[in-house]
Amino acid sequence: MKNKKLHIKSFGCQMNKLDSSLVTNALKASGFTLTDQPEDADVVLINTCSVREHAEQKVYSHLGHLKHIKESHPNLICGVIGCMAQRLGNQLLEHQAVDLVCGPAQISNITQLVQTAISEKIPTVSITEKIRAKADKTVSDKLDDFELAYDSDENHIKNQAFVRVMRGCNNFCTYCVVPYVRGPEISRPPRAILEQIKKLTDKGVKQITLLGQTVNSYEYTAGDKTYRLADLLSAASEIKAVKWLRFITSHPGKFDENILHTMADIPKVCPYLHIPAQSGSDRILKEMNRNYTAAQYLDLLDKARSIVNDIAIAGDFIVGFPSETDDDFQATVDLVKKARYKNCFVFKYSSRPGTHTAKKLSDNISDKIKKNRNTELLNIQNKISGEENEKLMGRTLKVMVEGLSKKPHLNSTDNNGLPQLIGRTATDHIVVFNGPENFSGKFVNVRVIKTAPLTLFGNIL
Ligand code: 5AD
Ligand code: SF4
Repeated sequence: MKNKKLHIKSFGCQMNKLDSSLVTNALKASGFTLTDQPEDADVVLINTCSVREHAEQKVYSHLGHLKHIKESHPNLICGVIGCMAQRLGNQLLEHQAVDLVCGPAQISNITQLVQTAISEKIPTVSITEKIRAKADKTVSDKLDDFELAYDSDENHIKNQAFVRVMRGCNNFCTYCVVPYVRGPEISRPPRAILEQIKKLTDKGVKQITLLGQTVNSYEYTAGDKTYRLADLLSAASEIKAVKWLRFITSHPGKFDENILHTMADIPKVCPYLHIPAQSGSDRILKEMNRNYTAAQYLDLLDKARSIVNDIAIAGDFIVGFPSETDDDFQATVDLVKKARYKNCFVFKYSSRPGTHTAKKLSDNISDKIKKNRNTELLNIQNKISGEENEKLMGRTLKVMVEGLSKKPHLNSTDNNGLPQLIGRTATDHIVVFNGPENFSGKFVNVRVIKTAPLTLFGNIL
């Protein structure tokens, strides 16, 4: 497919960003070049997210824009990939902009699907018929080969890469659409993961983030040995060129303590845990099928803090879950106050078709209450983040430089007219400082001279 141009837009989580990189790589290998203008493209792909209704609405509004472009570019091929593709399948073809629908388990066929869409101009849908059926080995082997071919990512932050260690989810939290669009959990063989990390480090990558919907339940049995996340982290840390290792996202149920010991013992394993609680009310946690109580969750955080010095913890919460009372919400507030997160993400409950809650419980908390609870929780967390960050004042922190800061006015000190850079510490703290742009992808030491709830400011040493 020589001289063809691809525009790709990604919505949603890191999994989607990684899928977009894989798809981009594959299409580039078949001759495509990238364009950031959909008007200039021969093929536009939208990688979609279904986790909240709002995410799907954003996709529809983008599709509206593409429909408009197609009026003057009738040969443009538009494809929808990702979670919405799997969730809605044929229904998406009803939209005038859409020519191609490809689910997450079919992305290894993307080149062929795009080729057919261009040459035959017939609408195509490729999704998994029975998404919760035991994964077909040929499909998962094919996805694994597709994944292994990935050894660079130009769109991403320099010298950092994501590596999927597992696909799917078996938790069935009652509100969540992921198990229905990403299918059952499948862990990739450690050999393939390590080989991929080596390939990435050969290209200069220094920081690897292992990805899984519930990454701490990674488990792969080969012969008589079962590999878990802690084994994977130790093995990956032996690759010399790997400097920092992270993993997201963890589920608090059945959290293997060995992961914490690995973090404490191996300096390359960053002391950072993203571990959503979702609620602080035991009644709501039960309704959510989360399989832990607020007390058990807080015990786990205590354990993490006692094993790993200076560990930073981040969380996710859903407010306005069906039937959530003021008392339930107060329990969430209490948990947030006790947890003292580095930061947390708060979402308003969104009813997702096909999930247990959507079928059994009415979405009976008004949007106004959801909004108020969302703001209140974020304000409380903001105060905590501010207080925690103040403790870092004057400290010298090792920072992996990501690139130019998007808001160039943040740092008050002007370091000889050098531009403002942004980077992250091992604990995932965002740091803004002045320095040369070519420091992107490198480690530097920064002394913290000012703090805010979401950002640290400093001078490069
Ligand atoms: N409504 C609102 N938030 C949700 N999340 C998952 N499903 C829903 C939903 N139906 C949130 C959870 C999860 C994060 C990725 O998205 O907090 O951790
Ligand atoms: Fe969804 Fe729960 Fe699985 Fe996370 S663990 S993807 S919230 S079902």
